[in-house]
Amino acid sequence: MGSHITPNVDAILNQLTLEEKVSLLAGKNFWETVDIPEKGVPSVKVSDGPNGARGATFKNGPTAACFPASCLLASTWDVEAARRIGNALAEETQSKGARALLAPTVCPHRHPLGGRNFESFSEDPLLAGKMAAQYIHGLQEKGVAATIKHFAANEQETCRFTVNAHIAERALREIYLKPFEIAIKEANPMAVMTSYNILNGHHADSSSFLLKDVLRGQWGWNGLVMSDWGGTNSTADSLEAGLDLEMPGPTKWRKAETVLEEIKAGRVSERTIDACARNVLEFMAKLGCFEDPSISEEKSINKPEHQQLIRSVGSQGLVLLKNEDNTLPLKKEQLANKKVALLGFAKEGLIHGGGSASVNAHYRVTAEEGLRSALGDAIEFDYAQGAHTFRQLPLMNNMVVDRDGQPGWTLDLFFNEDATGEPSASRHSDVAAYVPIFVKEAWGSLRATAQFTPSQSGRHYLGMSGLGRSKVLIDGQMAYEQKENCPDSMAFLLGGVKEPEVQWDFEGGKTYTVEVTTLKPSKSGGLSLIDGYIGFRAGFMTEEEHNRDLVSEAVEVAKRSDLAIVFTGHTPDWETEGQDQISFSLPSNGSQDRLVTAVSSVNTNTIVVNCTGVAIDMPWLDKVKAVVQAWFPGQEAGNAIADVLTGAVNPSGRLPVSFPRRIEDAPAHGNFPGEYIDGQLNVTYEEGIFVGYRHYDRSEKHRSQVLFPFGYGLSYTTFAHANPRVSISENAEKFDVTIEVTNTGSLAGADVVQVYAGAKQASSENPVKELVGFAKVQLEPKQSKTVSVEFDTRQLAHFSEGTSRWEIDGGEYEISIGRSVQDIVGKLTLSVGAQSYKL
Ligand code: BGC
Repeated sequence: MGSHITPNVDAILNQLTLEEKVSLLAGKNFWETVDIPEKGVPSVKVSDGPNGARGATFKNGPTAACFPASCLLASTWDVEAARRIGNALAEETQSKGARALLAPTVCPHRHPLGGRNFESFSEDPLLAGKMAAQYIHGLQEKGVAATIKHFAANEQETCRFTVNAHIAERALREIYLKPFEIAIKEANPMAVMTSYNILNGHHADSSSFLLKDVLRGQWGWNGLVMSDWGGTNSTADSLEAGLDLEMPGPTKWRKAETVLEEIKAGRVSERTIDACARNVLEFMAKLGCFEDPSISEEKSINKPEHQQLIRSVGSQGLVLLKNEDNTLPLKKEQLANKKVALLGFAKEGLIHGGGSASVNAHYRVTAEEGLRSALGDAIEFDYAQGAHTFRQLPLMNNMVVDRDGQPGWTLDLFFNEDATGEPSASRHSDVAAYVPIFVKEAWGSLRATAQFTPSQSGRHYLGMSGLGRSKVLIDGQMAYEQKENCPDSMAFLLGGVKEPEVQWDFEGGKTYTVEVTTLKPSKSGGLSLIDGYIGFRAGFMTEEEHNRDLVSEAVEVAKRSDLAIVFTGHTPDWETEGQDQISFSLPSNGSQDRLVTAVSSVNTNTIVVNCTGVAIDMPWLDKVKAVVQAWFPGQEAGNAIADVLTGAVNPSGRLPVSFPRRIEDAPAHGNFPGEYIDGQLNVTYEEGIFVGYRHYDRSEKHRSQVLFPFGYGLSYTTFAHANPRVSISENAEKFDVTIEVTNTGSLAGADVVQVYAGAKQASSENPVKELVGFAKVQLEPKQSKTVSVEFDTRQLAHFSEGTSRWEIDGGEYEISIGRSVQDIVGKLTLSVGAQSYKL
C-alpha cells in the first residue's frame, strides 16, 4: 500500500458542493459507496464477512473460500494463524472486487445461546483482542481494509435491532469494549461498523459516547465509521455522533433535502458533514481507489495455498475434550477389516454458521470423505442419518406442477394488498418460496398455486411462513393460517423462523390444488431494509419420512460396527445471525442426544465429533469414549477432522469459552435475552465483569459447574512444566513470565501456556484471576523449551467508576501459569505499586 500516491483529500473535498458531500455519507447500493465521477470521486465496494469473502450475492454467487469460524481460530491460541488467515482473506476479498472486508466480529461470548458467538472469538477480551489484531494486520498488510464489528454490545440476536442493553461502565470498559480497544490500538483497522442495538439508552450508530468520546477521543482512532446494514437510526444524531457512512444505500436517513434541513435548523453543522465526508474520502485514498477506481468482476480463485491453510488451521483449532482409554487417535492398522459406523452429520459438512458469515464455499469436504481418504479402503464404513435435524420442513418443490403443467408453482402478483381480482403479473417458480432479498419489486400481495399429487397416502406435514399475514388452502379449504406479520423478518430471510407444522390427510395419486396467499406486512418486524416487501416459503414432508425411526436405524448400524462415530452439531438454520439458539440441547427436540445415547448404549466404542460455535449440553458424556469439539472448520472440515481423529495432527486446540454443565449455571442466565417492558426488550448485564471463567473461578462450587473450563484441551502427548519465573522491566512497565515446557510423551505436539494474574488479596469485586498473556509452543518428543510470555503492568488495572480511570491497587499479585484456567502448573508472586491511568 505504501506505493500509492496519496491524493490530496482536502483539495478534493473543497471542490465538492454541500449536496455532493452529503451524497458520500451513505451507500450507493448494497455493497458500494456513492461515486461522483465528474469530480473524480470513486466508489468502494465492501464484502462480508469473517470467515470468507462472499461477494455481493447472498446465495449461490461465485464460490468463495470458506475459512474456519473465529471461535475455531481462537481455539488455536495462535495469533500467527490469525494473521495468515487475514492474508488469505485479503486475496479472497479482492477476488470479489471489494477492498474492505466486513470483519472481524469481536463481541465477547456472553451466553452459550448467543446466535452469533461462532463468528466471534471468545468470552475473554484479551484472547479476542489479540486474535483480532493479527487478523486485521493480515488483511491490511495486503491492502484490504478491516471493518471491526459490531461496536458495541451486540451480544445477542434476539431483537438485535431494538434491544436496549444496560451495561455498567466497568463491565463495558473491561469486557465489552476491551477486544475493540486492544485490536484498534494494536492494529488500527481502517473501519469500524456500529451495532444495531441500543446501549444504555442510545442506539450505537447515534452514540456520541461510543463514537466520539471513546473511539475517536480516548482511543485516538481516526478511520471510517459505518453503520450495520439498516442500522442507522437517525439523521442529525448519527451525523453529530460521528457515523460517517450509512449502509447500505440508497440512503434512508441522509437524503440531501433532509440533511440540508437539519443543517438549517442547526441540528447538524457543515463541519460535521466535512469531517464525515473527509473520512469517506480518506478511506478510499488509503485503499488506492483514486488511482484505480475500477471495481473488478467477481471471480472464484480457489487457491491450493488457501486450501492447505484452511486444513491446517482447522485441525489446529479442534479441541479434544475427552479421550478415555486413548481411544483416539484411530490407527489404520488397528482398524483394518473392522467396521466403522458414521452417524449423524457424517455426509453433510457443517462448515460455517448461518447469516452474513455464510459463503458459497468452493467445496466442502464431509467427515465421511475426509475419513475415507485418510483411512483408505481397508475399513468398512457404514452410515445412518440417525436423527432429524431440520428446523423447517423442506420446500414443497416436488410432486407439484404449475398452471401450465410444468414442475413448480405459478406465482400471481398483485399491487393490491389482498390478492384479489386480476393479478398484475404471473410467473413460474421452481420453488415454493418468494424471498425478497434484493428483489426490488414492491408488490402488495402474492398468490402461489400448484397442482399437488402426492405419491403416497398419509397425514402429511405442511409448514409455512410469510413476512405478512398468509394462508394455505387445499382444494379451497383452509389448511393453515398465519394471522400476524412475521415478528422477525431477518429470521425469515435466514431460514430461522420456526414454523408451526400442520398435518393434512392426502390420498396417494390424487391431485390437490394448493394455494398459498401472502400479504404485504405494514412494517416488517426488525429488518427495516425489507420493509414493504412480501415473502413466503412453504414446506412439506410425508408422514412416513417425518415419523421415520432414524434412531433405530442408526442403532442397528452401530450394533454391527466395531466403532461408532456420531457427528453432531448445528446446521446454519439453527446457529445463525438473526436468532439466538432456542435451546442448550442439540436440535431438534433432543433428537441428537437421543441418537448419541442410544448408539453409546449398544456400542462401547462411541466417539462424538461436535460442530457448534458454542457450548452445548452433553447428557451422554459419561457414556462415550471420546469427544472432539470441531466448531465450524470451513471448507476442509472433513480433512481437518480426519487429521485429528487419525493423529496426522496432534490436537492442540484449547477452549476459548467455558463449557458449563447446565445452562442454568451460565453467569448471564436469567438475564438473557432480557425482559420486555412495554414491548421493548431490555437486557441488563447483571453479572457485570463476571463473564465466562471470571464467574466460574469464584469458588470451588462455581468451578464444579463447569464441564470443560476455559483454556482446556487434551493432546495425544503429555507435557511437564518447570521453573516458572517472572522478571520486571527496568521502567516497571512490563513483566516477563517464563516457564520451561517439556514434551514428556512420544509424539510431537503443541502446548498453550496461559498466564493469568489477580490480586492476592481476595475481593468479591474483582475476578480471582484474568488472562494476561499466552503463547503456543511446538515440541518434539522429549524436547524442552523455555516459553516467555510478556504482559504490561497496565493490564492489572481495573476501571473505576468512581474516578473514571484505570486503577491498580498496590499490593501483591499472584501470577498463575496454566494449561487451562483450572489446571495451574506454576504460581509466582509479584508486588506492584498503586497506579492510576487516564482513559
Ligand atoms: C450484519 C453484518 C453484515 C451486514 C451485511 C448485517 O445484518 O449484522 O455483520 O456485515 O449485515 O451483510
